[in-house]
Amino acid sequence: MQPKLNIMHLPVYQPGKPVEDVKRELGLDEVIKLASNENPRGYSPLAKAAMLEEIDQLHLYPDGASVELTDVLAKKINVDTDQIIFGTGSSDIILMIARAFLVAGDETVMADETFSQYKHNAEIENVKLVEVPLKDGKHDLPAMLAATTDKTKVLWICNPNNPTGTIIAHEDMLSFLDQVPKHVLVVLDEAYGEYVFDDNFTDGVQLLDKFKNLVVLRTFSKVYGLAANRIGYGVGNAAVIRTINQVREPFNTGRLAQVAAKASLQDDAFLEQCRVTNRAGLDYLHGEFTRMNLEFFEGHGNFVMVDVRKPSMEVFNLMLRKGIIIRAGWKQYPTYIRVSVGTQEQNEKFINVLEQVLTDLAVLA
Ligand SMILES: Cc1ncc(COP(=O)(O)O)c(C=O)c1O
Repeated sequence: MQPKLNIMHLPVYQPGKPVEDVKRELGLDEVIKLASNENPRGYSPLAKAAMLEEIDQLHLYPDGASVELTDVLAKKINVDTDQIIFGTGSSDIILMIARAFLVAGDETVMADETFSQYKHNAEIENVKLVEVPLKDGKHDLPAMLAATTDKTKVLWICNPNNPTGTIIAHEDMLSFLDQVPKHVLVVLDEAYGEYVFDDNFTDGVQLLDKFKNLVVLRTFSKVYGLAANRIGYGVGNAAVIRTINQVREPFNTGRLAQVAAKASLQDDAFLEQCRVTNRAGLDYLHGEFTRMNLEFFEGHGNFVMVDVRKPSMEVFNLMLRKGIIIRAGWKQYPTYIRVSVGTQEQNEKFINVLEQVLTDLAVLA
């Protein structure tokens, strides 16, 4: 047996340890996970009711085309139904875009650092990766344009960017999209877009009429709190969406995911509560990092990246032993950790433990 040579070096995804395992191994009563940008408020009660109502139908295949959900979403975001595709999380849409558009010999442009799945899927398709370093934690759009060639097929933008949490100013986004050659598909990943309050943020869907080579990705895993349900979507011009649909698995979103997503779209009050409490959490973390004299990137999603001035894995391990799981280990940011916004109580415990750890390491006096 001979697998594809270009996937031989790929690591198998290592999920973070379950909270229960960490508790048992380290003898801790409480472990707080602030590592995966999940919603600490859970998900909408309307979604729960919809799932309970659907529970007796699980012996039947779901609607492969997610017709009802597509209708509700199309009305909500004011696009045609043929402009929408659903996936098993937005990760599935990333996979499908790579599968539908990229072949060996193509080039694809993305930031370094950004969400890992763009690179992962591009590597599977054996294309040339062009990674453009971030500038002050933000996409360096002029450098990304300069890196675009006749061979570039797909260009990935993450707004707000994971892991830095930064956003692209509206005028910069417009001027960038104006200059991207029309043969390049621009993927604008807005997994954390609903959290943003800044007026300078771009709602990518509003740009679809002008830029036919744009596709916007969103997910129900973050502000909607349905990470375990695995459902996300792409919105673009109908021809692009049709192409992505050609490589879609027939039943890639389940019944519970579809009804929960549909109900979530009808619960604006829950969405607003989550946005507001998340913003308060961001403000709290930013304020505490400033008090501790730590540099950070201003977060616009539901997480913040902060410079702890020590190798990040060392800080990660010390915090883990005290019952706080965060993310660390980015090669471009070796002294930064990323923390998700939790409940206020969790945020305060995180700050407490960080302060203890950084005091022990003599980062803080
Ligand atoms: C920027 C970004 N895009 C996409 C995803 C994928 O989310 P999901 O597949 O759960 O929709 C994530 C998950 O963390 C993310 O951070």
